[in-house]
Amino acid sequence: MVDIHSHVLPGIDDGSKSMEETVEMIQMARAHGTTVLVASPHADTQYTYDAARVDELLAEARTLAGPGIQLVRGCDFHLMFDNIEAALREPLKYTINQKGYLLMELSDLTIFPNTGTLWSQLEEAGMKIILTHPERNPLLRQRLELVQEWVSQGRFMQVTGQSLLGLFGKKAEEFARQLLDLGLVHFIASDAHDLRGRPPRLDVAFQWICEHYSPRLAELLFIEHPAAVIRGEALDLSEFPPERKGNKPGFWSRLFRK
Ligand SMILES: [Fe+2]
Repeated sequence: MVDIHSHVLPGIDDGSKSMEETVEMIQMARAHGTTVLVASPHADTQYTYDAARVDELLAEARTLAGPGIQLVRGCDFHLMFDNIEAALREPLKYTINQKGYLLMELSDLTIFPNTGTLWSQLEEAGMKIILTHPERNPLLRQRLELVQEWVSQGRFMQVTGQSLLGLFGKKAEEFARQLLDLGLVHFIASDAHDLRGRPPRLDVAFQWICEHYSPRLAELLFIEHPAAVIRGEALDLSEFPPERKGNKPGFWSRLFRK
């Protein structure tokens, strides 16, 4: 599996607290089936993103963690003015593996009415937007039509694996399922921050998707789509979303699909 969102590097955000924890997190990911792990430190009002420092830490972590898992640089990019200016100056700097896909985090407190316009500027400069965990944003949970609009405009949605398991509360779980039912989820990632509360594991969520949706959807969300992101290639959405297990549409898709 390919995990496009994690905070495994030490001392640069609210993720790993030490290089020892970092190595354990990487080993845990590898032991549970992750073959590519994107380290995506925050770039927000609290944490400054220093790409050279991230690269140094990645090199150290690669040496200490050993083979069997590829570590790639990304960024958890908060939508704010300074970040947009910086990304427009260096369009690949914040993107996953510096190949063009940008993890985009919105504020929980406000959704700027010009969000789409700001994203268009980034897209014109060559970036592709992956919105992180819309199911955990209380404002977006009230704005399903906005998520639908963004997806119809070619933006992608990444859900956190633990949301499916109810670990971010009932509302996040329900909205995540609703988005899945409507074919609005393109990626599932761990957004790991530590070893226990928010571990870098995708195996449980993978199994959950196999059981509740289909093994084919699990392959797309955990393997094929994120692998295309690592390579900087377009997602193949020709068969997306695949038929659900037993051909039974979910409640939300019955309600909303024409
Ligand atoms: Fe994150």
